[in-house]
Amino acid sequence: MPGMEFNRVTDGVLKKLTDVLGPDGVVTDEETLTPFASDYTEDLVFMPEVAVLPRTAEQVQAIMRIAFEHHVPVTARAGGTGLSGGALPVLGGILLSCHRMNAIVEIDRSNLMGVVEPGVITQVFQEEVEKVGLYYPPDPASRGSCTLGGNVAENAGGPRAVKYGVTKDFVMGLEAVLADGSLIKTGGKLYKDVSGYNLTQLLVGSEGTLAITTKIFFKLLPWPPFRKVLLAPFDSLDKAAIAVTAAFSKGVQPSACELIERDAAQCAIKQLGKEWPHPDAAAHLLLEADGFTEERVDAEAMMMAEACMESGADDVFLAQDEPRMREIWSLRRSIGEAVKSINIYKEEDTVVPRDRIPELIRGVKEIAARYGLLVICYGHAGDGNIHCNIIKTVDDEAWRVALPKAITEIFQHTASLGGQVSGEHGIGYVQKEYLPITQGAVEIGLMKRIKEQFDPTGILNPMKMFL
Ligand code: LAC
Ligand code: ZN
Repeated sequence: MPGMEFNRVTDGVLKKLTDVLGPDGVVTDEETLTPFASDYTEDLVFMPEVAVLPRTAEQVQAIMRIAFEHHVPVTARAGGTGLSGGALPVLGGILLSCHRMNAIVEIDRSNLMGVVEPGVITQVFQEEVEKVGLYYPPDPASRGSCTLGGNVAENAGGPRAVKYGVTKDFVMGLEAVLADGSLIKTGGKLYKDVSGYNLTQLLVGSEGTLAITTKIFFKLLPWPPFRKVLLAPFDSLDKAAIAVTAAFSKGVQPSACELIERDAAQCAIKQLGKEWPHPDAAAHLLLEADGFTEERVDAEAMMMAEACMESGADDVFLAQDEPRMREIWSLRRSIGEAVKSINIYKEEDTVVPRDRIPELIRGVKEIAARYGLLVICYGHAGDGNIHCNIIKTVDDEAWRVALPKAITEIFQHTASLGGQVSGEHGIGYVQKEYLPITQGAVEIGLMKRIKEQFDPTGILNPMKMFL
């Protein structure tokens, strides 16, 4: 790979960066740098040599020109909530944090579009658009601290993707800075655009390896005012997984369809100290219906409840009032963090066609058991996207040896079901050795050539995506 030998950040480089950003835009002391050294990915820590905090696209361009000229790596980041290590400055270099580029530039009600800078917190944007009766559905679990720029870089998903789509389905245009400092503009406030290759969608999900986003054009929807949440306990994971396909076969479109295994629910209950209707059930399905008339939402909720009962649910609990719905969602959103707190763990972000979930989970459990490991499953069953958290239940040496073998088998199993190695968390730093399990040499070769076109000297987020 060309350009993998990089230069250190010299005093000369620091001086140039300070000239562009001012002293408060350049961080070099260890204490202030430390939060930029890790993200939400396991316990990995990589100290950058310097963190830069631009406020404008012009400053991002100037930073990239300096980095390009001096051949110093640049890793972009904002919320730092990624789960595959995409924002880790693995080779040190310059850490470019977008968190000061946090303006909501425009909420355009005539065109149903929002224009934002990359450092806007996702939930802040959602709340602002809701104030004017609009809806931005993508809702990663970390929406209170992740940013829209990070969501674009990772093509983030979340529970509502099952009805509304993931981040890519809302990105209609981008402004971004390339490795050499040039600024590109793609798409815009346009619902249609076939003017050349679709660079917008190439950049979405490119994990900061192709360009640094400086502005995003998002499609918005009218806010659906009615909502109902159902929680169905099952005495087996298999029955819960089967109920997922049953619900869709009824012809309803849930706005969320989440599967939660007992261990996942219980550690979230313990962490939040909240009550849960059936804490001992082997698995729960969390289903949500939303829409524009109460009658329609009621009817959909009823059909989902029927699908659960017909698939063997022990009960169906219906949450209709806002506080109860919020409580159920806060438990669901806290699962990721709660599962992490059990012990050292490794999360695999499997995705398969929806009707293969029962086989996926049975296989994952069987593989983990053979290695003496515990695996806790939960996630976006409606999308076939199940987070499999492998928990360390063996000694250090057995963990070191068994883990990569178990993960490889899990992904081989996923691939045999028509799946992929990541549904929404990305490849980043920690999953790159598994990418070849589902992507062929020709496909990976093509991806690498695309990378070389955007970033010929490899300074943008090196050591990511590919081995
Ligand atoms: C979730 C995150 C981990 O679904 O993707 O909770
Ligand atoms: Zn998820």
